[in-house]
Amino acid sequence: MRVGKRGSHRSPEVNNRSSDAREDLRKGYQDEAVARTYEEERDFREGDVSLHYETEVLALSEALGDVRAPVLEVAVGTGRLCRRLMGFGTRYVGIDVSAQMLKEAEKNLEYGTDHPRLIRGDAFQLPFRDGYFGAAIGFRFIKHLDTGGRRLMYKELKRVLADEGLLVFDFYGWRRRASKKKEGDRLTVGALRSELEENGLKLIKVYGTRHVICDVISVPFRWLKIRPAVQAAGWIGVKILSPLDELLDRSRGGIAVCKKS
Ligand SMILES: C[S@@+](CC[C@H](N)C(=O)[O-])C[C@H]1O[C@@H](n2cnc3c(N)ncnc32)[C@H](O)[C@@H]1O
Repeated sequence: MRVGKRGSHRSPEVNNRSSDAREDLRKGYQDEAVARTYEEERDFREGDVSLHYETEVLALSEALGDVRAPVLEVAVGTGRLCRRLMGFGTRYVGIDVSAQMLKEAEKNLEYGTDHPRLIRGDAFQLPFRDGYFGAAIGFRFIKHLDTGGRRLMYKELKRVLADEGLLVFDFYGWRRRASKKKEGDRLTVGALRSELEENGLKLIKVYGTRHVICDVISVPFRWLKIRPAVQAAGWIGVKILSPLDELLDRSRGGIAVCKKS
């Protein structure tokens, strides 16, 4: 189990290979304290400046920019992504199994005309009709599943996606010193592509979100909380360095954009 950054509340962001991974994830965020401290412990609050978060928002905004049909976010959690992604002019639906996480999401969202629809439910049994969504996203969720769990998730998401619909999710990258517990630590871009193909999805783009150089150049700006400068470092990673991840078939971590094929 990963302990929250400041070590206060245990959260189940694990990569264990056991069949319990899905159940751990499902149960782990029901706790009120885990939900309440989730954003604080990961620098996701509005006043925090996180390179990783900014990079995710930038890549997602680009990936979803042309989507006009409704967007689904599975395991929406505290709504940290959806509140930065609203304004696409399309319907946004977030689903999560944890009432506590959804309660935090409601608190953090401003009520407006494009307030997303938040629903409590199971991502493996989505209460939506076939082909309803133009895109689906799943962050800090799909990557925590084991191979069997990911297969089930791809199948269910494909069901609710329209033809040519997009699936966007983050993945663990390749590490020289792979932890035995983390199967995702040895995932090359090629292996990810094959896994997706086997599940009827075509990988069309990889955004690298863990480039060391971006990390290094953003240190003083993160420390001083200068968001535009941190966003610029993220921009370099997303726009300029991302092709390297595909070219070298190695990504330290990134975002996969795939299409239902
Ligand atoms: C690590 S959090 C990620 C939250 C958010 N996606 C983010 O990027 O910050 C994992 C989330 O997955 C949710 N979850 C776990 N199993 C689920 C399931 N079977 N269906 C829906 N949500 C689930 C948890 O309640 C929790 O909110």
